[in-house]
Amino acid sequence: MRRIAIAEFRASPEQRRLVQEVLDSGRISEGPKVAQFERAWAEFVGCRSCIATNSGTSALMAGLLALRHRLGLPRGTKAITSALSFIATSNAIWHAGFEPVYVDVDPVRFHLLPDQVEALLAEARPGEYGALVPVHLMGYPAPMDRLLALGERYGVPVVEDAAQAHGSLYQGRRVGSLGVLGIFSFYISHNIQAGEMGAITTDDEAIDDLARRLKDQGRVYRTEEDLPRWFVHDLVGFNFKTLEFQAALALPQVADAEEILRARRENVRGLNERLAGLREWFQLPEYDEAVGYLGYPLVVRPEAPFSRDAWCALLSERGIETRPLFRSIPTQQPAYAHLAEAYAGRVPNAEYLGERGFYLGCHQHLTPEDLDYVADAFADLARAYRAR
Ligand SMILES: Cc1ncc(COP(=O)(O)O)c(C=O)c1O
Repeated sequence: MRRIAIAEFRASPEQRRLVQEVLDSGRISEGPKVAQFERAWAEFVGCRSCIATNSGTSALMAGLLALRHRLGLPRGTKAITSALSFIATSNAIWHAGFEPVYVDVDPVRFHLLPDQVEALLAEARPGEYGALVPVHLMGYPAPMDRLLALGERYGVPVVEDAAQAHGSLYQGRRVGSLGVLGIFSFYISHNIQAGEMGAITTDDEAIDDLARRLKDQGRVYRTEEDLPRWFVHDLVGFNFKTLEFQAALALPQVADAEEILRARRENVRGLNERLAGLREWFQLPEYDEAVGYLGYPLVVRPEAPFSRDAWCALLSERGIETRPLFRSIPTQQPAYAHLAEAYAGRVPNAEYLGERGFYLGCHQHLTPEDLDYVADAFADLARAYRAR
């Protein structure tokens, strides 16, 4: 049986060579390869600086905490974010000392709704909100022009969670370069795969300095010349440093990013063509040249004679992996169950997608035969339901 995975990692000769270089160098903790990756990713995104971390979650924690220090925001300041996301967005907001406040999402492109953001900000007390954290889910950029204008008007900086949106363009600029800072995750199922790694991107020198020190225990002095003061720390930080191996794996992919993004987009287009006949039961993803697709998201319409979970179980029997399209954090996520009552009835789109959305892989190693296999499985299963 064929296996259509969410993601596949295939080590290239160049990656093997760079990993071997790390082993031979004797320097496996953060060093020259990480610095090289930081320069390459900053250039790719179109930012002055990039700070590598050991995950996207830690990038968001360090980035948000840097912002709190930069602006002197007290613990408990509110941050507006998307009700539908991978839980890391909320966890990082919480651990960085912000209180997450959720707005509902667009049912097609999954980003938070700017009208709802505006309604919250228009009624806010001065200083109540300290960050606006849109998530570019599945690669679809949030409507940054409106969000940045709202941020400007109400004095609330925009922090982009671009974990899932490597290379996505918003009005010709890469996401992650538009807000005061952006974060990325290079988890194994993302477009650029390092296993585990993250990055903060920013043009703000003070955020850069704070985030760099926060990820390294708030260390003040970092060069051999400062040896007498080596263990001086003036911030309560973390150890979010990454490894040379991760950078070695990521570097060749940054060089090939355009090709990776193009192949994934082609797979989204190819699946849309093949599944067009099933639109009455499935909402297919909007195709957009500017999107760096994390996966191929589908939503089972209420008209379909099956549930999302029943359909995904049948796909799984045919070797086709799926993942649910996350959950509504305040109303469907046990870790945030204390919010369920307050948000009851307020995030219907997030709940709809949380119950009915799922995604397939659209990764660059899929072949046209793989896409045919997926389309045949869908057609076969749909025929069986029609015959019932
Ligand atoms: C939207 C979003 N934010 C943050 C993260 C956190 O990244 P990581 O898993 O690298 O910690 C992820 C991970 O997939 C994500 O999807």
